[in-house]
Parts: sequence; structure tokens; C-alpha cells
Amino acid sequence: MQRNLKLKSDICHITRNFFHDEGFIEVETPMLNKSTPEGARDYLVPSRVNPGMFYALPQSPQLFKQILMLSGYDRYIQIARCFRDEDLRADRQPEFTQIDMELSFVDEDDVIDVNERYLKKIFKEIKGIDIETPFMRMTYDEAMRRFGSDKPDLRFGMELTDMSDIFAGCEFKVFADTIAKGGSVRTITVPGAANYTRKQIDELIDFVKIYKAKGLASFAIENGEYKSNILRFMSEDIIAKVVERANAKEGDLVLFVADTNEVVFAALGALRCEMAKRLNLINKDEYKFLWVVDFPMFEWDEENNRCKAVHHPFTSPKDEDLAFMEERPLDVKAKAYDIVLNGTELGGGSIRIHSREVQRRVFNLLGFTDEQAQARFGFLLDAFKYGVPPHGGLAYGLDRLVMLVLGLDTIRDTIAFPKDKSASCQMSEAPNVVDEKQLDELHIKLNLPEEQ
Ligand code: AMO
Ligand code: AMP
Repeated sequence: MQRNLKLKSDICHITRNFFHDEGFIEVETPMLNKSTPEGARDYLVPSRVNPGMFYALPQSPQLFKQILMLSGYDRYIQIARCFRDEDLRADRQPEFTQIDMELSFVDEDDVIDVNERYLKKIFKEIKGIDIETPFMRMTYDEAMRRFGSDKPDLRFGMELTDMSDIFAGCEFKVFADTIAKGGSVRTITVPGAANYTRKQIDELIDFVKIYKAKGLASFAIENGEYKSNILRFMSEDIIAKVVERANAKEGDLVLFVADTNEVVFAALGALRCEMAKRLNLINKDEYKFLWVVDFPMFEWDEENNRCKAVHHPFTSPKDEDLAFMEERPLDVKAKAYDIVLNGTELGGGSIRIHSREVQRRVFNLLGFTDEQAQARFGFLLDAFKYGVPPHGGLAYGLDRLVMLVLGLDTIRDTIAFPKDKSASCQMSEAPNVVDEKQLDELHIKLNLPEEQ
């Protein structure tokens, strides 16, 4: 643990020096805030002097750094604590640290350029490795199509292949119906796994079910023979086409998922990584950086039956897509980018909206009336009146960066006094009940569910 924290401390040191030398200034932003819409649930803090009112702890310093740009600070950096009340995973903690930056008079290339130089320096000084720049860039659409993921691990192949045209109208009703309904049939070709047993394949079926796939079909070439649980539906013509397109050779196993594109990508994207792990295809000493660019601006929020921002509501749509934003919001691309390292999202950012009118249209699409937008983000919209420099930025997860550099499995091992799965601190036993008197001062009455 001490080694991990020492490395984190070294990274902070290099980060501060690098950005200082580049003319960034470090500004601390407040912890007691109005909520910012990063998409997670807020941690709330009651205000004693304003009964019934609450602060939200920052999910990120997003709005503050934009206001700094609006007021003429050209380059901002902060190693900032962030708080998000969301379900924990190996790479998520409720309280974590961002390396957060913002620059004015920039476009995507400027943000990418300074960050490539920064990461190059970090890896040189920490690992003694010369990483090659510029990093590869890939659009979101291409990443999904080829890897089924917006954070592809490029250390191994096994890319997805679309087989929909081959199976359209075929005898296997599940495939034919899925394609007819606008879904797809896609595969990955797993090298040297043709000898997978029925039991092993069943395990993989259970695995893809986690991602809502309804099944997993397989096709193997073993000792010159075809083994498949859908062989009875495959004509010779279909077999020949599948073998060719999947580039399947003796000893290979082709795995199929048929479903909506969303499910197919999620299931095969995860299965691709799972198979790489099982077959030991991952070189742990390799660092494959990638910029994923041209993210969609909006996604559909089933629960609330409206659009929600993929990144956040201050991200600028692509200029050429503004013309059809209200008609076809789901086709609009954003000036957003993620930096991905070995299949993990290390950081993300965007060029921001700097027109009051565009910001108003985006808020409207997200379901805020003009009045609601003014009530929640008035301080930003008002600042827009005075003219806004084009600006943009990015934030890294510092804990994730340490985790990846050291090849750790969880970010808990990069955080002193981390929280456990139930967001509790095992040492201090936070969170804890408080005295009646403290609650009274805050005018808070508890309404707890009855004990079972
Ligand atoms: P975003 O929400 O993508 O962007 O967060 C940026 C980076 O922060 C890290 N991160 C986390 N790390 C640990 N635990 C968490 N719960 C957690 N959540 C996020 C990730 C992620 O890539 N304000 C924008 C950035 C911008 O637009 O400039 C933002 O917060 O590594
Ligand atoms: P069945 O004829 O229902 O026994 O299905 C034959 C094979 O196709 C089984 O191995 C199923 O797991 C597989 N299968 C069923 N549904 C799907 C699907 N949506 N995508 C991929 N394979 C499927």
C-alpha cells in the first residue's frame, strides 16, 4: 500500500510541475455546492443556517472551471476531490480524485496535444517507458462496431464481425427475426478454443446473459470438422460465408450473439475481454492508449422517456449537427473525447458550449424549461451574456491512473482509508448515526423504513 501511495504522490508532484510549467494555475474550488449534473446521485449536506436547504458535494468541479474560463483565467488545473453516490465497482469509489483541467481558446486538438505530452512525461518518469505519441484516435461508432465497447482494450484482437447479411431470412428463426427487427448477428473468432466443452460453452452462455443476451451460438472447426449448436440451421453456403468472414481456421471457435445492437455490443464486447483473459492473450507490460472521439451527444433515457447527455449538458454538439439537433437528437455527435488505456476509461472531457442560445437548446432537449434552466444554472447562463471564450478541458481519475500504472485490480488499493462495498469506512465506521440534538439543529426528522 505504501508503494501505491508513494506512486500517487509522485504522480501529483509531476502533474503539478508539468501544468505549472505550461502556464496553468491551480485553483481550489468549493466543496459545499449546488448540485452539478454529472449524472450520478449527489451526496447532500444539510445547512444549519438555512433550514431545509442542502449543499451538494461536488461530483466534479465542472461548472466552477467553466466560470473561471469565462472570467478570463486561461488555464486551470486542480487535483480535486469528487463525490458520487453510485454503485461501487472495482474502478469506482464514492470519494475519488480527479486531475481536472480547463483551457480557453482551444479546440479538441489543443486539449489532446497537451495531454499526450503530459502522459508521455508521467510514463517516462514513473515507469521509464517512452510511450509513442500521437495516440491512436477512433470514433465512438468505430470502437463500438469493432470492439463492442467505447473503451476498447487494444492489446489483443478478436474484433467483432457483422454476419447479419449472411443470416438475413435464414432458417434459424431467432437470427432471422432479430435481423428483420433491425437488430444484428455478430461474432468473435476465438483462436485455439475449438476444443471448448459443452460445459465451458454453457459457462459462456451464462456470462453473456449478464449483458442481457438471450443466448450464445457457437461454431468450431476441430480436426477438419464443424461443431456447432446451430449446425442444423446452417446451409453449406452459409457455412462457407461464415468461415470466410470470421477468418476461422482449424482450432478456432466462432461465438455468435443475435440481439439489438446495444445488447450485441455489450455482450460480445465483454466476452471478447473475458476470452482474452481465459486464454492469456493479454500482455501485462503493454500500454495501449487510445482517444475515443465523436461520442453521441445524447442517449435515450428509458426511465424518464427523454434524452440525456452522454457526457454532460455543457458539452458542445458538433457544429455541423446543430441544424438537425431538435429533429434527430440521437444522431448528433459531440465534441467529446475519452482517453482510454488498456480497456479502462482513464479520463474524459469535451469542448464546451459557448453560446447562450445553443446552451438553451441543449437544456430544452434535456427536459429543462427556460425557467428551470435559469433556476439551476442561472449563474452560468448569466455569465454567458458577457461573451464567452471558446473553452474545453478534461479530467482524469487519478486513482485509476495509479491503478493502471501499477497493474492493480481495484482502485481501493490506491486510496488511503477507502470505502467498502457498502460505502462505509471499516476503520472509522463512517457513516454513523448522529445525536438527536444534531438533527434538531438541522431541522431534520428521520423517517426510516421499519426493521424487517
Ligand atoms: P467524468 O464524469 O467522465 O467527467 O469523470 C472523469 C474521470 O473521473 C474518473 N471517475 C472516477 N474514478 C473513481 N471513482 C469514480 N466513482 C469515478 N467517476 C469518475 C474516471 C473518469 O474518466 N467534469 C467532467 C470532465 C470534463 O468534462 O472536463 C467529468 O467529471 O477516470
Ligand atoms: P435453440 O434452437 O433454441 O436450442 O438454440 C440453438 C442455439 O442458439 C443455442 O445454443 C442457443 O444458446 C443459441 N441462441 C439462442 N438465442 C440466441 C441469440 N439471441 N443469439 C445467439 N445465440 C442464440
